[in-house]
Amino acid sequence: MCGIIGYVGTSIRSQFLIQGLRRLEYRGYDSAGLAVHQSDRFYLKRKIGRVIELEKVVDDVPLQTGIAHTRWATHGGVTEENAHPHLSFDQRVILVHNGIIENSKQFQTKLKESGIELQSETDSETLSHMIANLYSGKGPFGEDIDLETKGNPLESIRQCLRLARGTWGLAIMFVDRPNELFVARNGSPLVIGVGDQARYVSSDPHAILPFTKQVIFLDDGDIAHVVQDDVQLSRLDGGTTNKLIETLEEEWGDGEKGDFPHFMIKEIFDQPEAIRQCLRGRMVHDEGMAKLGGLDMEPKDFLSLSSVTLLGCGTSFHASSVGALAIERLARIPARAEIASEFRHRNPVIDSDSMFFAVSQSGETADTLGAIREIQIKGGTTMGIVNVVGSSIARSCGRGVYIHSGPEMAVASTKAFSNMISAMYLFTLQAARVRTISSAQGQHFCSEFQEMPEKVDRYLQKPGILDPIVEVLAKAKIIFFLGRGFSAPVAAEGALKLMEVAYIPCVAYPSGEMKHGPIALLEKGTPVIIIAPNDPLKHKTISSLHECKARGAIIILIHTQGDPIASEGDYSIAVPECSELFSPLLTVLPLQLLSYKVGLALGRDIDRPRNLAKSVTVE
Ligand code: F6R
Repeated sequence: MCGIIGYVGTSIRSQFLIQGLRRLEYRGYDSAGLAVHQSDRFYLKRKIGRVIELEKVVDDVPLQTGIAHTRWATHGGVTEENAHPHLSFDQRVILVHNGIIENSKQFQTKLKESGIELQSETDSETLSHMIANLYSGKGPFGEDIDLETKGNPLESIRQCLRLARGTWGLAIMFVDRPNELFVARNGSPLVIGVGDQARYVSSDPHAILPFTKQVIFLDDGDIAHVVQDDVQLSRLDGGTTNKLIETLEEEWGDGEKGDFPHFMIKEIFDQPEAIRQCLRGRMVHDEGMAKLGGLDMEPKDFLSLSSVTLLGCGTSFHASSVGALAIERLARIPARAEIASEFRHRNPVIDSDSMFFAVSQSGETADTLGAIREIQIKGGTTMGIVNVVGSSIARSCGRGVYIHSGPEMAVASTKAFSNMISAMYLFTLQAARVRTISSAQGQHFCSEFQEMPEKVDRYLQKPGILDPIVEVLAKAKIIFFLGRGFSAPVAAEGALKLMEVAYIPCVAYPSGEMKHGPIALLEKGTPVIIIAPNDPLKHKTISSLHECKARGAIIILIHTQGDPIASEGDYSIAVPECSELFSPLLTVLPLQLLSYKVGLALGRDIDRPRNLAKSVTVE
């Protein structure tokens, strides 16, 4: 979703802002723009489309203070006028904004009444005019009242934002303050990087990581005045605040494609090493135990747990569904996965002995953050299962488990799915070892878990013959995905992935549900992908397979290597043998590869599918 990068420091070149925007590209956007302070004016360029389009029109100008933005349209279409930065009517204030100003319609009406001609349809533009009015000593809508905001940038921003309802991550420049940046946060992340005679601002720590690892994370309600060698923090209500400079952890892996043509395929192949990174140092084989220091839980805390709820969206919800099955199966704690965007709106019952995990790759998903807030308001315990270190979810939960998949740049999530499951399985082991399983059972679990990265690698090295299947799928009007038990969430994940990357309608069901309605959609030649690893439910899944086959479906079967059921599929893909519990880490792999290959065959924008964003920071 939208991204912000800002710089104030010793003189460099405008190209720096383009580089920063490139590191935000993976989040998904549809236009980009930048502004550089130039003595008595702003150098401003905006362009719809990719950053490369912007780069073509940006001159190589000196940069001492500048802001830049990638926009993912919410208010108003994808046009150059709607792209950020937005300049005030008097050309004195310019800003970039992430988030949504819910009452911007009122602002637009009042600004128009005051004679200001709006240049865009955006909510963000209104803020630039209001701040400019306040900065010139008038009311926010040009009223002739003498306010003490005159010439006071912080007070002008505060007065403006006190009127706004919604979310913001803002970076603002004033034309008469050449070496100063102002930033504000409410519900949309912002981080300030502390460099040598330079300060960086971004909505995403990843964008500033090449320049500095020393950062200050802003909290909701914070405002900062940033100059090249200092950051002054204050609060929207005028109060003061202090924050520590934190050091960003060294990330495993890199955010570059290397020799791979796309991030998605690189990240699929990252999985063996990513799972290893997640497990590293977290299992004590001799005790058959896991230790997740970030949870800070004693054995007695596990004994008193009455339930576990895992909250996430999209892929994170699917991983949570796998995790919930494992926790309940092995640790005998009632566990469920819930879609975060639904959870908070149903006035959920929060029990003080329950534990709530917020599961998120980006750690910035607004729906998941909203669910956390609701739980916290009701006195519940929240923990994060998160990839991005220092992200809003990680910070607002305070405790949790980092999944350590390394940066995931493709919009379609792959390695985060596997690592979320791995992190949840470590929790499962820790809880189960306290509550239900013996040391020998725990050791067996550890041994099998440790073998999984090698098995994932083994499958990826020999994925089976996929191209004929890709041909079938690429022509399909609709594709079904079926699985039971641990394979039902995998089916859902496979369908989501193929929809995202190939834009083909996909329907996923627990296989027993097929006959209760969806089977009506089957026609001769409809592809049905059936996930049936060697588990106790396999034979039931095969009954569903026969029902589909009898109606002319083309069966693509994912099964365990060496299983004779391979002959049931028109096309069959074998994955290495493992226990039922670990099967999602393997059965998801062919689905990820097929999505990638079908997307490629159809010429889709693999890493940045249309309409999608990597980090969904609006509700
Ligand atoms: C699917 C995908 C999305 C995300 C969802 C949650 O490939 O990427 O469905 O899984 O938007 O995002 P996070 O995990 O960042 O909270």
